[in-house]
Amino acid sequence: MREATSEPSARSALPFRSAVVPAAGLGTRFLPTTKTVPKELLPVVDTPGIELVAAEAAEAGAELLLIVTSPGKDAVAAHFADSSELEKELQTRGKDALVAKVRRAHELIAVRTVTQDEPKGLGHAVGCARDAIGDDEQAFAVLLPDDLVLPTGVLTKMAEVREQHGGSVLCAFDVPREQIAAYGVFEVSDTGDDDVKRVHGMVEKPAPEEAPSTLAAAGRYLLDRAIFDALDRIAPGAGGELQLTDAVALLISEGHPVHVVVHRGGRHDLGNPGGYARAFVDFALEDPDYGPDLRAWLAARLNG
Ligand code: UTP
Repeated sequence: MREATSEPSARSALPFRSAVVPAAGLGTRFLPTTKTVPKELLPVVDTPGIELVAAEAAEAGAELLLIVTSPGKDAVAAHFADSSELEKELQTRGKDALVAKVRRAHELIAVRTVTQDEPKGLGHAVGCARDAIGDDEQAFAVLLPDDLVLPTGVLTKMAEVREQHGGSVLCAFDVPREQIAAYGVFEVSDTGDDDVKRVHGMVEKPAPEEAPSTLAAAGRYLLDRAIFDALDRIAPGAGGELQLTDAVALLISEGHPVHVVVHRGGRHDLGNPGGYARAFVDFALEDPDYGPDLRAWLAARLNG
């Protein structure tokens, strides 16, 4: 893993420096694989989902990826470690393209891990990153590694919204009303920009006729550091889990500005086998090596 640099002059120009990636969940929807393989390392074609998310964070200007892991999930951080032995071996064999692939994760961004001892919820996982985030960092990003938001770039837009409105900024997708019951849904008002809404509340998995909007939450957050204090003040919910959305709701109730950027692109949920299968096929179809053959096979399979 690369070490983080901390040049004060470089810092101040950035909307955020740290990107927290919670990866300490149990991954029960992927059992039995997740008995031993962290779901964050499952490949999308040939690249683990967490590397795709790390690349997105780096592209948005993050300098440090703070991976929240659990005891026993060391392989997640190991993916970003120095791999010079393997690189040397590949070089000896003249496999330069593979050397570049292997090196990419290590070179993308500096990585640090923090441990969440027990899976006490997403809010708790984010709280575990508190001491690793500098006192001078007023905001930080959170990227859920099982959520691919495509094309990348929404974090940059979210940073612009924070510049303009302050507070915290979340990410939403406009989903068909009949599918809304699967999501956390925002209650919003207009800001004058169609792609930016002020958030007044959130409802988890509402019935379509009761949903306050068709804007569903996605796994990207730009959070003001006030979230840490809010996380200290909320009560655990079902299963003793601390919910990040409860802390955001507390901030909203206290007048903290929260906005959403409505992302008009695609999304893949890597957290369940069905969503993962779609993502894999989607990426593989675009792959110059595997795409043409897969396309022909799929067409035959679907017509067969
Ligand atoms: P999910 O609920 O999608 O992940 O949490 P999970 O709990 O691992 O999966 P299932 O539901 O059992 O199949 C969203 C993200 O938050 C992390 C997860 O690793 C995932 O990336 N998370 C969740 C934590 O880091 N800690 C937790 O206590 C809970």
